[in-house]
Amino acid sequence: RPYAAITGIGGYVPQKRRTNFDLEQVCDTSDEWIVKRTGIKERRILDSDLATSDMAVMAIRDLCTRFGKDLNQVDAILVATSTPDVMMPATANIIAKKLGLNNVWAFDMNAACSGFLYALDMGSSLIETERYKNVLVVGADNISAFVDMHDRSTNILFGDGAGVVWLEPSLETGIIDAFMQSNGDGRAYLNIEGGGSLNAQDNENIALEKKYIRQDGKVVFKQAIQSMSDACNQVLKRNNLAIDQVDWLIPHQANKRIIDAVGKEINIAAGRTLSNIEYLGNTIAATIPLCIWENLKELQKGDLLMLTAFGAGFSWGASLLRW
Ligand code: ACO
Repeated sequence: RPYAAITGIGGYVPQKRRTNFDLEQVCDTSDEWIVKRTGIKERRILDSDLATSDMAVMAIRDLCTRFGKDLNQVDAILVATSTPDVMMPATANIIAKKLGLNNVWAFDMNAACSGFLYALDMGSSLIETERYKNVLVVGADNISAFVDMHDRSTNILFGDGAGVVWLEPSLETGIIDAFMQSNGDGRAYLNIEGGGSLNAQDNENIALEKKYIRQDGKVVFKQAIQSMSDACNQVLKRNNLAIDQVDWLIPHQANKRIIDAVGKEINIAAGRTLSNIEYLGNTIAATIPLCIWENLKELQKGDLLMLTAFGAGFSWGASLLRW
């Protein structure tokens, strides 16, 4: 069977910046505190008249321009998002419509911050069946629409963005392994409780409170480090690899301290971890493809990449791929 190889990558982040100094104006926080505790200096924020699909379309167009790809070749579009444009139809359908694609199979997948890795595993499985030759896997989130600007435990972390990879069959390089996990106990610690079918008839005030992302930061912090480290170690073990054989660790960008702690836990060498959290914050499902997109020059053909993510659910995982 062929591997699913990444043969193109695109990204988009909105122009508008939200700096730590902007946040100092709306809640009791400081640039110094945010940088020290999270490593974040600024995030990008989408205009309120746009939505997740708009960023995804820009990212896909960026991919096509950079890699000379023809959208008419696309067989399927998988979109990892937990901030869909609307409840129904899927954002993937909206993206396909905006791109003028009428003959694709398009659907969404919600695994929060782990969404891109889950979708990458699904997309690579489609390629491995040999029934699909060109699959787009998007990670896109307009999370700023669900951030309570007065909640300093969340407003400091999140930004908007979209990343996309083009998967094709290859006999040489591609996705080698993926280890995905979830545990529903995580719901209490990280959620957006409103907007779904549960309590859809709530009165307006309750609905407003539940509209925003809420979390117990300390629980999420500890669990993220443990779960991502475990997932990486599982993948190393079952592929008989030592960590020094991995060229790059590309972790979900949630908090610089989480990224550093995972690197330490799995013992990756200094300078081998890619990060963009300082100027993009946590863009949920977009962090990993955006991180690859921004660091394309660093990656050499044949490099071994370990991707790992953790998010609401809880959901987590790690993927191993040969670039
Ligand atoms: N500005 C200033 N002070 C603050 C802020 C803030 N934004 N937030 C909390 N504080 C204060 C607290 O009140 C507390 O004060 P005290 O010591 O007087 O009681 C002190 O700073 C320490 O607060 P903690 O909550 O212990 O701070 P912590 O170091 O845990 O950092 C944070 C909080 C940044 C939210 C961290 O827990 C975190 O990043 N958790 C992971 C959350 C996450 O990544 N969620 C995203 C979704 S999932 C994912 O992507 C992995």
